[in-house]
Amino acid sequence: MIDAIEGEADSIVATTVELPPRIFSRIAEIVRREARIELPPSKITLVQSRLARRLRERQLESFGDYIAVIESDAEERAAMIIALTTNHTHFFRENHHFEHLRETVVPMLRERALRGPVRIWSAGCSSGQEIYSIAMCLLGKDRASAEWLNRGDVKLLATDLSPPVVEATRRAVYSADDIEPVPPAYRRRWLLQEEDEFAMSPEARRLVTARVLNLFGPWPMTRQYDVIFCRNVMIYFDALAKAELEARFVEMLTPGGYLYVGHSERLIGPAAGSMTPCGQTIYVKANRR
Ligand SMILES: C[S@@+](CC[C@H](N)C(=O)[O-])C[C@H]1O[C@@H](n2cnc3c(N)ncnc32)[C@H](O)[C@@H]1O
Repeated sequence: MIDAIEGEADSIVATTVELPPRIFSRIAEIVRREARIELPPSKITLVQSRLARRLRERQLESFGDYIAVIESDAEERAAMIIALTTNHTHFFRENHHFEHLRETVVPMLRERALRGPVRIWSAGCSSGQEIYSIAMCLLGKDRASAEWLNRGDVKLLATDLSPPVVEATRRAVYSADDIEPVPPAYRRRWLLQEEDEFAMSPEARRLVTARVLNLFGPWPMTRQYDVIFCRNVMIYFDALAKAELEARFVEMLTPGGYLYVGHSERLIGPAAGSMTPCGQTIYVKANRR
């Protein structure tokens, strides 16, 4: 997301190429149209810095030349949006969500898995730390606690707009710094050291499918989901886009399904009426009887 406050130190690339406000507005308009991301005027320096490399790669001398390219070249528009998204994430981010998942939701999912499929979605997954944190909560501390997953039809979906982070999710290899927040018991059991990096174990990887998906495009999934994580993604969408997305998430959840949103996010649209808050930034969908 377009956010320096979120923790990602945004290295401002030294550039002499000015981004005139008129062109910034046109860029903001394209980003709003394609990804529903809001770029307020205060983001002009950030946008100028993040797009400087795109200009260099295309050997363009001004943002005027760049706007002409992006208006006619869908590939460059996609590259621009990737350059403008912030992918800051980490394992067990907002740990209270994972405590709730372990204590309240996993027991329910184990029950459900006896009767039918279980589906979990990380929407806006970035490089996969969120979906693998979820996977480790399902697997538990050892082979015995993971056994239920071998018997049931349990699948985890991770999606993001940005192909490079989806590829990183598929690769599932992290640095020593990345895995620091992983509880030691999980680290020992579900991460395998490969020289100076750490790969998610086959048991965790087997659960996860990663796909490129723009949340504002069509959703190809045919089943409802028992749990949806969409955290630190909706913050910079406009109110209409948020309300639209929330309604789609509610529709996509099974009765009794859970939605987790980011620390500064709240359900704001009509969808809030179908969801009951049940913890800090956690909502449960009414269970039809
Ligand atoms: C800040 S990261 C959050 C990652 C993770 N959910 C977390 O909380 O740690 C936001 C992610 O949302 C993705 N994103 C932004 N707009 C999107 C859209 N319209 N469709 C799908 N993903 C989007 C970005 O590419 C980025 O990887």
